Amino acid sequence: MHPDTFTNYLAHLYPPRRQRYIQTCELKEFVPVVEDDVARVLGLLIRLVSAERVLEIGTSIGFSTIQLAEAMEQRGGRVVTVEFDPLVAEQALKNFERCGMQDRIQLLAGDAMDIVPRLPGAFDAIFLDVDKHLYAPLLEDCIRLLRPGGLLMAEVTLVPRKTRFRLLAGLGRADFPGNPLRVRTAKTAPPAAPGRPPAATGRC
Ligand SMILES: C[S@@+](CC[C@H](N)C(=O)[O-])C[C@H]1O[C@@H](n2cnc3c(N)ncnc32)[C@H](O)[C@@H]1O
Repeated sequence: MHPDTFTNYLAHLYPPRRQRYIQTCELKEFVPVVEDDVARVLGLLIRLVSAERVLEIGTSIGFSTIQLAEAMEQRGGRVVTVEFDPLVAEQALKNFERCGMQDRIQLLAGDAMDIVPRLPGAFDAIFLDVDKHLYAPLLEDCIRLLRPGGLLMAEVTLVPRKTRFRLLAGLGRADFPGNPLRVRTAKTAPPAAPGRPPAATGRC
């Protein structure tokens, strides 16, 4: 069986949502949000630990926030999310409304370095997805805020930014928004795989 058959089958089972989510935003240029596969892993981990209270540090336009909230929907869980850029925070709030998640997500606007140390616990899980140089200074507070056995998830901890974009370029993702290597790599990136992308499903 051709490997594309497996890829297409999996893509059919888990249709991408990220692109459609970004396209429905007024703020399309600022989109450093997790990839579809990362979003699915986040949802899986949240379900596995039966989380009901999750803290996200770094909201952007709220794509991962929605995935976290959806993963707790049956248990009525809630997300607290922190964002210091007022423009993206405003867009995130609009997106939460559009997805019908506004009652399940609390957005705290401001600098995570001020907000997180003053937050009360306990959270079942924390998703750290803010500027990477803040991971170390925020770690002690994350540990304080997690319940015993709670889950700390940190996005992109091992791969430096430029290397990450080179990897994405090598995978034919040279057009990745915000890619500092975009212009240079776009010419050398391999063409996208043929075939129609699967239809996106879901509310958002
Ligand atoms: C990678 S994006 C978050 C993406 C989002 N988690 C998603 O996947 O949908 C990181 C966000 O952290 C925000 N940020 C950076 N430094 C911050 C700080 N000190 N306090 C709060 N937010 C910050 C940025 O404005 C940006 O929107």
